[in-house]
Amino acid sequence: MVSAHAGERQIIQGGMGVAVSGWQLARAVALTGQLGVVSGTALEVVCARRLQQGDLGGHVRRALAALPVPGIADRVLRTYYVAGGKAHAAPFRPVLRFSLQPPRALVELTIAANFAEVFLAKEGHDGLVGINYLRKIELPIPFACYGAMLAGVDHVLMGAGNPADLPVLLDRLARHEPVALPVRVQGTTSADGEYAVRFDPGECVAQCGQPLRRPRFDAIVASVDLAGALAANPTTRPDGFVVEGHTAGGHNAPPRGPRRLDARGQPVYDGRDVVDPREMANLGVPYWMAGSYGTPEGLARALAGGAAGVQVGTAFAFCRESGMAPGLRRRVLELAARGEVPVHTDPRLSPTGFPFKVLELAGTLADDEVYAGRQRLCDLGVLRTAYRKPDGTIGYRCPAEPLAVYEGHGGRTANTVGRRCLCNGLMATAGLAQQRAHGYTEPAVVTAGDDFTAVRQLLLRASGRDTYDAADVVAYLLGRDEDR
Ligand SMILES: Cc1cc2nc3c(=O)[nH]c(=O)nc-3n(C[C@H](O)[C@H](O)[C@H](O)COP(=O)(O)O)c2cc1C
Repeated sequence: MVSAHAGERQIIQGGMGVAVSGWQLARAVALTGQLGVVSGTALEVVCARRLQQGDLGGHVRRALAALPVPGIADRVLRTYYVAGGKAHAAPFRPVLRFSLQPPRALVELTIAANFAEVFLAKEGHDGLVGINYLRKIELPIPFACYGAMLAGVDHVLMGAGNPADLPVLLDRLARHEPVALPVRVQGTTSADGEYAVRFDPGECVAQCGQPLRRPRFDAIVASVDLAGALAANPTTRPDGFVVEGHTAGGHNAPPRGPRRLDARGQPVYDGRDVVDPREMANLGVPYWMAGSYGTPEGLARALAGGAAGVQVGTAFAFCRESGMAPGLRRRVLELAARGEVPVHTDPRLSPTGFPFKVLELAGTLADDEVYAGRQRLCDLGVLRTAYRKPDGTIGYRCPAEPLAVYEGHGGRTANTVGRRCLCNGLMATAGLAQQRAHGYTEPAVVTAGDDFTAVRQLLLRASGRDTYDAADVVAYLLGRDEDR
């Protein structure tokens, strides 16, 4: 078994939500001596649904039995575990939705789910495991980080927004101290005061015990400017940067220049959006390059520019240990083998407002007919944002919710155009689709990066197999194929 130290690893397997980088993938990568990263996005829903599917193999229950906070595991299991699994056509039980003051049951479920994912990824080896969060999905962050830290997570990685508050938050959580994470509330000004989601570990964990190990914090950025600003202040300086370009899978930063669309309706990026690895070298913080760096040549380019290595998503998203539903994964691999993977950067699809890479697969939410045939509804609400109501209280809204509901929440109609429900779509992609009335199953939505070079080359090297393993990706990137 390989023992990994931070300085040795050149590859970060990027966090991929929802549950595409689940614990099986992160564990497989950590076992090679590189950094495996679980997605922390919506783990509370993922965990609740896995339990309702009967928790095949008993993994979640085994992890929850190790949760060092008495009572939580029992309450979570009583609420969600269905022995033998729910009937296929039966809907999953709803999970409460986050707000600035989330109910205790949701806090407990979030701690338990993040603990379980990291526990399972770290089980039985001493490799490194990180967890990925999006700053934009802010309400669960303190509880999620604490759960992951209880399981000894080695790295927390965060993008999709400015993660300046994270270093101090992690310092305090490691000491079991109360934290307050500032939250953006639309329609408020600084005169209204700062809104925050608060968490006091002492209230939830009666005996906090020894301090927890403080994980390293890696900020995912798209520009040298943000990296420089974070690095300049000791309270915001991360332990590492991932510099992610606009060809990466998942959400992308918007173009820095004027908002323009090409003939296919994609945002137009230019030289301002491309970071040369050498530009990062002066900051004195280790950095990994991401977005079309997932080839041996990409790794060499990053290293030559002074980077510590690369973060790779797409090549891992389609490997055997990926959490993507096997049927979808196989379809994409078949297309990749023929060189026909149609990836589109959609500026409107994601309710977050960030451009989102989407695979144009028939039968998924990217398919306009499927989109038109889906009745808008918002029952997971992971991407809801807080806003101030006219009476001064706080409400929550998502531009992919039904139009009338969004307007009733004070949202602008124009903001709903083209928005698709990523919460339900990404759950379906991970094999956790909600079942609705009249046999309707929530459709999946698949994201991937622009560059499928690695996927194609890995398939060619798979000698007759129609798939490849996470360890194959690592060996390929490090030029060690011959050893395998
Ligand atoms: C299926 C998929 C889902 C992703 N989800 C996330 C995510 O939830 N959070 C995140 O920070 N990055 C996400 N990413 C980006 C990856 O972590 C990584 O930075 C990126 O894929 C690297 O570029 P590449 O796609 O060219 O390999 C995702 C990428 C893919 C392919």
